Amino acid sequence: MRTIKSINSLKRELKIIKSKNQTIGFVPTMGAFHKGHLSLMRNARRDNDIVIVSIFVNPTQFGPKEDFEKYPRQIKIDELFAKKEKVDIIFYPSAKEIYKDCHLTYVNVTNISKVLCGRSRPNHFEGVTTIVSKLINITEPDVMYLGQKDAQQAVIIKTMVKDLNFNVAIKICPIVREKDGLAMSSRNSYLSQKHRQEAPCLYKSLKEAKKMILAGNTNSKSILSWVASNIKNNSSGIIDYTECINADTLMPISRIKGRAMIALAVKFRKTRLIDNILFHLK
Ligand code: PAJ
Repeated sequence: MRTIKSINSLKRELKIIKSKNQTIGFVPTMGAFHKGHLSLMRNARRDNDIVIVSIFVNPTQFGPKEDFEKYPRQIKIDELFAKKEKVDIIFYPSAKEIYKDCHLTYVNVTNISKVLCGRSRPNHFEGVTTIVSKLINITEPDVMYLGQKDAQQAVIIKTMVKDLNFNVAIKICPIVREKDGLAMSSRNSYLSQKHRQEAPCLYKSLKEAKKMILAGNTNSKSILSWVASNIKNNSSGIIDYTECINADTLMPISRIKGRAMIALAVKFRKTRLIDNILFHLK
């Protein structure tokens, strides 16, 4: 496994890979690996000749009052994890390598970047789509691996890839959870002991809601009000949103049918946790 920091060195490596007709699986990350990240690497390893993982804490997707400075950075530990997953190349650029002084271009997927998390994080998804566009152009992958954990991000990136004719397939991998159901996230380490104990109630509420839906209650309003009160009764988290949405378009639905999702965001002090559950109703 090699860690490459410059775009030019990576391009030299890619020339050799492409000349051998080897396929490239790409996993974009911000590092601080947990089992969710590792599952994406494992999928990429299984499907491709070469696996590239990027580690870049992308400044343009953080709001001015968010945790860019505090975000966990642990390249040496991450290198060990990636090596174990038989990753071929870690692309680990500096902010200067990615955003030159005169960077003026941003990629914006309209409408769906403004709903759900986009309401409380106004420029977040523009930062994500800009960096992911750049990383696709830099790493030239055949397949890119994303997690269902960030469901809105996955739909927005899929839309961007389709709308802008990027030549890359996308695979969305299932959410990896802690034993108690909490979705793994690099930000879980910010939680106090009390909040960490309360946080699994998010997934418990989603699971219960799914049961209620499959048992025949397809009224979004009634399901969402149950989810909200269950979270309020079992935690001190402040709900940012709970929504029933179409899983492909992210648009709210009043009657649950087809490929649908309940998505939520809940704040525990400054730590904002997101989670979701998918279902398919005929
Ligand atoms: P990051 O939060 O590091 O996540 C990298 C990838 O891991 C994303 O596709 C995310 O959905 C996936 N992931 C995170 N937690 C997961 C879990 N518990 N189960 C399964 N997959 C999980 O998402 C980003 O970085 C950035 O926005 C990025 C796309 C790299 C652009 O900067």
